[in-house]
Amino acid sequence: MSLRGVKIVGVGHYAPERVVTNADFERWLDTSDEWITTRTGMKRRHWVANGEATSDLALRAAQAALEFAGMDAADVDCFIVATVTPDYAFPATACLVAARLGAKDRAAFDLSIACSGFIYGLTVASGLIRSGIYRRIMLIGAETLSKILDPADRATAILFGDGAGAVILEAAETDSFLGAELGADGSKPELLYVRAGGSRHRIDRAALDAKEDLIHMHGREVFKFAVHKMIAATDAALARAQLTKADVTLLIPHQANKRIIDAAARYLEMPDHKVVVNIAEYGNTSAASIPIALSESVRAGKIADGEVIVFVGFGGGLSWGAVAWRWAA
Ligand code: ACO
Repeated sequence: MSLRGVKIVGVGHYAPERVVTNADFERWLDTSDEWITTRTGMKRRHWVANGEATSDLALRAAQAALEFAGMDAADVDCFIVATVTPDYAFPATACLVAARLGAKDRAAFDLSIACSGFIYGLTVASGLIRSGIYRRIMLIGAETLSKILDPADRATAILFGDGAGAVILEAAETDSFLGAELGADGSKPELLYVRAGGSRHRIDRAALDAKEDLIHMHGREVFKFAVHKMIAATDAALARAQLTKADVTLLIPHQANKRIIDAAARYLEMPDHKVVVNIAEYGNTSAASIPIALSESVRAGKIADGEVIVFVGFGGGLSWGAVAWRWAA
């Protein structure tokens, strides 16, 4: 029996308890529920409490995925956490999560490509399984973006939320991985970045005063890039899978802005009921947004055996990617 395919056998998600509504921002920012709703589609987002970190959210999502799959952490060969808000610069958050789950001596690493993290992770993890290197991989997208937000910047503070989503991938006879397209353009990092805290710019007094340890974004440029790349990446992934738009049953896009999702869905001729949108509840949770949406959809019984899903995302880098995936129950 050849096990050179891959399928998803477990899904889980978690968002912190504290909810911040659009109305909450009105108390300290020159903004309104009306502006945020019409320009982004967001209503609420979840933010961690003091003392809560990314691995805490990742752990809860991973536990839910293990429970869903009826597995123990010891059954998993490799742990990957896609995040740009790790607990520490190092060790990798995946090491912490694996240890807290009680998995001993397993492979564990983080993947840092911002909001494209889950798409890149799904491609890497599928490759590791389809090549026979590992049998089971836990892939988690987890972020605490509230920790790197400037609460006084109305253009970014309202956009981001915290959360985690996890999938367990397993070797299988039939293959769910149909095709992928990944890309990046690092020529303009400043379009969406945290300037200080790496090896180029230290976090010192001046950096803190300039808020360089926090997210900076050129929203309009990112918006245009996002619509273009969501469409191009989806087309390319479908071409590699030798499928057409008409074959797609469900679009699970990165949840950055409802208007970006709508523009991409229009081009792809996907009616509303074929597009998963939960942005009103979570805001943009970066690498966590797609696995949270997938976990919610699977748990709500919205995905049937054999259906074709396109996962598509974009983010800091700038980076983008799409994966065409046949759901196997
Ligand atoms: N409330 C009220 N007004 C606001 C707010 C706010 N929260 N934010 C911005 N404005 C104002 C601006 O100051 C501007 O005012 P001005 O015309 O007087 O200068 C006006 O609204 C319009 O600003 P724009 O930036 O043109 O607004 P836009 O319609 O582009 O929406 C937004 C801004 C929501 C940020 C949009 O550009 C967007 O979603 N961009 C993409 C962001 C994104 O996808 N990021 C993904 C990151 S993924 C990752 O890797 C982390």
